[in-house]
Amino acid sequence: MKKIKKIGVLTSGGDCGGLNAAIRSIFFRAKKKYNLEVYGIKNGTLGLIKRPLDVEKLSYKSFKGFLIKQGGTFLGTNSKGNPFRFLQNGKYIDVTKKIAAAYKSLKLDCLIIIGGDGSMKILKKIADSTDIKIVGIPKTIDNDVGVTEYSVGFHTAVDAATKALDSLQSTAASHSRAMILEVMGRDAGHIALNAGIAGGADIILIPELNYSIDGIVKKLLEIKKNKIGHSLIIVAESVKKENGENVINNYKNQKRFGGIGHYIATEIMRKADIECRVTSLGHIQRGATPVAIDRILASAFGVFAVDLAANKKFSRLVVWQDRKVTDVPIEMGIKDYRQVTKDDTLLKTAFSLGIYLGDYNSK
Ligand code: F6P
Repeated sequence: MKKIKKIGVLTSGGDCGGLNAAIRSIFFRAKKKYNLEVYGIKNGTLGLIKRPLDVEKLSYKSFKGFLIKQGGTFLGTNSKGNPFRFLQNGKYIDVTKKIAAAYKSLKLDCLIIIGGDGSMKILKKIADSTDIKIVGIPKTIDNDVGVTEYSVGFHTAVDAATKALDSLQSTAASHSRAMILEVMGRDAGHIALNAGIAGGADIILIPELNYSIDGIVKKLLEIKKNKIGHSLIIVAESVKKENGENVINNYKNQKRFGGIGHYIATEIMRKADIECRVTSLGHIQRGATPVAIDRILASAFGVFAVDLAANKKFSRLVVWQDRKVTDVPIEMGIKDYRQVTKDDTLLKTAFSLGIYLGDYNSK
């Protein structure tokens, strides 16, 4: 089998904790085990669309000591530029051939993509219609790639949300208030559920479960009756209003979740004498210092991804299953979207801790 010589690596989609650790691990494995040349592609596929190409040949010098603990991605990323509908001079054009030409001109043998389901979908489609070979590493704070137990970045987001609840608890107690923390997660409630348990929330609202304002108020009044003057509520960004409406901000045709915390606060205060304040944690969950488990997961994924590339096992996604790293066809990472399911062990945990979870409580 002819050996591969050169690989590229790019980060695509929203950033998160652990991306730099993954790039570092890819470089070290590629260099030390296979003596491969490694090119870092800047800003997702944009680096291959731009002319001159926006790429950087990685060397030991690229990996300064602080990088492993640094949030974000030193290669940059991009969550907007779909190469099949790329906006150029006011027109949408298909730039996938440009990407294939760049891959060829760099003489790459494989592209390692560190991305979420959206990026995997796009890059798999490009690989299917060109000579580009790909291997994927799942990253997303949302932890919604169903085929892997954990994606890079999730634990850092949960940790950031837990720390926020810890801080909110003190001030909630000082002022006898209900503190509402709105967290990210897109259509999945994993961050809210995990951080809610870790941070001692009284109420966890996730998009997978319906709730009622009356149910929330009842829980808060119960807490008050027990002579505890304060409470903590964590709500996932995509939780709907009680009437089923989404709370979305539109900005230049882009839809962004945000604002459900304020809706919940207003409704509580309309129905009960409970003072509420809202904190929206936002991108702190993405930019926070990567926690140890994300650095470890990213490092293990990076090594495995390079081994797949070196052995020409392309179109595979590296995943964490049953306490170890393994690989699956990349399309499984795209198809298998995971929300919190009714049998999630953490729902039972939260319920058993007396946390209000909406209609799970009436099961
Ligand atoms: O998918 C990751 C994520 O952080 C979601 O949790 C969130 O809804 C979205 O990205 C925010 O995207 P942006 O960085 O474009 O605002």
